[in-house]
Parts: sequence; structure tokens; C-alpha cells
Amino acid sequence: MMTATKPVRVIAVTGGKGGVGKTNVSVNLALALSQTEQRVVLMDADLGLANVDVLLGLKPSKTIADVLDGRCGLSEVMVPYNDFMSIVPASSGTQEMTALSVHEHAELIHAFNDVADQMDVLVVDTAAGISDSVINFVRAAQEVLVVVCDEPTSITDAYALIKLLNRDYQMTRFRVLANMVRTEQEGRNMFSKLQTVTDRFLDVTLQYVGSIPYDESVRKAVQRQAAVLKAFPKSKAALAYRQLANKVESWPVLTTPRGHLEFFVERLVQGARTGN
Ligand SMILES: Nc1ncnc2c1ncn2[C@@H]1O[C@H](COP(=O)(O)OP(=O)(O)OP(=O)(O)O)[C@@H](O)[C@H]1O
Ligand SMILES: [Mg+2]
Repeated sequence: MMTATKPVRVIAVTGGKGGVGKTNVSVNLALALSQTEQRVVLMDADLGLANVDVLLGLKPSKTIADVLDGRCGLSEVMVPYNDFMSIVPASSGTQEMTALSVHEHAELIHAFNDVADQMDVLVVDTAAGISDSVINFVRAAQEVLVVVCDEPTSITDAYALIKLLNRDYQMTRFRVLANMVRTEQEGRNMFSKLQTVTDRFLDVTLQYVGSIPYDESVRKAVQRQAAVLKAFPKSKAALAYRQLANKVESWPVLTTPRGHLEFFVERLVQGARTGN
């Protein structure tokens, strides 16, 4: 049995559609939280091309796979980014998280238990789509941040994701962030569109978190392999990310079992066991 730790915010950043800005949101939200001296761990759950290591120009030598094999602890895999933030890089272990052996389950639980006391927030950047791996990470988190943008399939993909999580995993509460908006109204409109369909067909509650403006600084920062918050701290996007972090800090931290890191890890492992 794991020992009880204090609640940790576990936020999965997802969206269904590819390229909506999930990784940029994850990285900059994590960084903004760390700048307010929250101890943040950013977990990369996407093996894709433009993942967290690439965005931050990191070259990790150890991965989750080493943890699962019992070769090292999670703290040795975590790459420190600043005094308050570190990164758990993606690895083939991320993909294999849906096919863990009993031994690997135990290793993962121990690994997280060891670092639970050293973190306040865990941000999980997920891959695009609604694969088992994505669903497994999202359903284990207490807060689900669905990123949408004004591209044709973004709303329908977000809807498909929410529908699946609701229908198969009884999840009912989702936070929605509009990215790359030209005006704040555009963000609210996207949210309304999504809410109209969820209200009609599903029994879920969507909460609008706000928007991140379309900002060339984000693209420039990505090219430099840096977070926009660091490369262009005065940009409009950076300001919006800091506002997002302030909002996140105002969300109630769940003191129920769901609010504990153990819950997250147990759900991850449970999903792996049942093949979901
Ligand atoms: N606020 C923004 N303003 C301008 N461009 C943006 C913004 N957010 C993201 N982008 C652009 O969109 C691209 C994709 O962003 P990102 O990699 O974060 O998306 P993603 O959802 O993680 O993609 P994937 O599904 O491939 O993982 C970035 O490289 C960047 O150029
Ligand atoms: Mg990404």
C-alpha cells in the first residue's frame, strides 16, 4: 500500500485534434506555475515529433522505460528545468504504459510515490487523438484541460474525446481552453459551439478557462526550442499563459482520493491492466 501524501493537482492537457497547441499550453502553463514557486512536474505522454523535449531543447538520457525496468527511480529520469520545474521525458515507455507487466506496475507506483512529496502540480501533455494511451492518461487525471482552436475539426474532435470519456469512463467535468484566438470573443464562440453539442447529447459540465491569443512569438519561440514564456516574456501569449496559471491556482485542490497522486498512478496502472 502506498502512504498518503498531500493532494497534488494532476492536470491532463488534451484536445483530440493534433496541432491545436497542447504541448505549448502544457509547457508554458507548467513554467508559469513554476514561476509562482509551485513545484511542477511536466510529464510528456506523447512520443510524437514535436514533444516537450524538442520544444525545450532537452536531450534526456534516461526515460520512463528505465523506471519500469527498475533500473532507476523517477527522480533520476526527471530533467530539472528550473528550481521549481522538472520534466519527465517521453519514451517508448509512454506508449507501453497500456501494456505494463505486474512488476512494471509496482515500479511505477513506487517511482511516483518517491517524488509525490516534492511536487504540487503534475501537468501531463498528451498526444493527439483518442488512442488507449491518451484516454488512459486523461481519465487518471483530476483536471482535464481540453484545448480547442478555430480549425474545422477541432470542435468535433474535442466533442468525440469528451463523449468517449463520458460514455466509457463516466467523466463529467471538463475545462476548455481556446488557443490561437484572434479576439477573446472568438474563444467564447468556440466554447459555446462545443457546449451546445455537449449540452444536447451528453450529461457533462464544461467550464471555460479562457483563451490564448494567436501570437507569432509562439512560433518564433518554438523555432528557437524555447518556451514563449521564457523567450518572449512580455508577449501577449506569455501574459495569457500567466493568467491561465493564476486561474489554475484558484481551482480547488481535491482532497478526495482523486486529489492524490496515488489515485493518478493507480488509475494509470488500472487502465493498463484492463487494457483500456
Ligand atoms: N498561441 C499560439 N499562437 C501562434 N501559434 C501557436 C500558438 N500555439 C501553438 N501555435 C503553433 O502551433 C504549433 C503546434 O503547437 P503544439 O505543438 O503545441 O500543438 P500540439 O497540440 O501539441 O500538437 P500535436 O498534436 O502534434 O502534439 C506550434 O508549433 C506553434 O507554431
Ligand atoms: Mg504535442
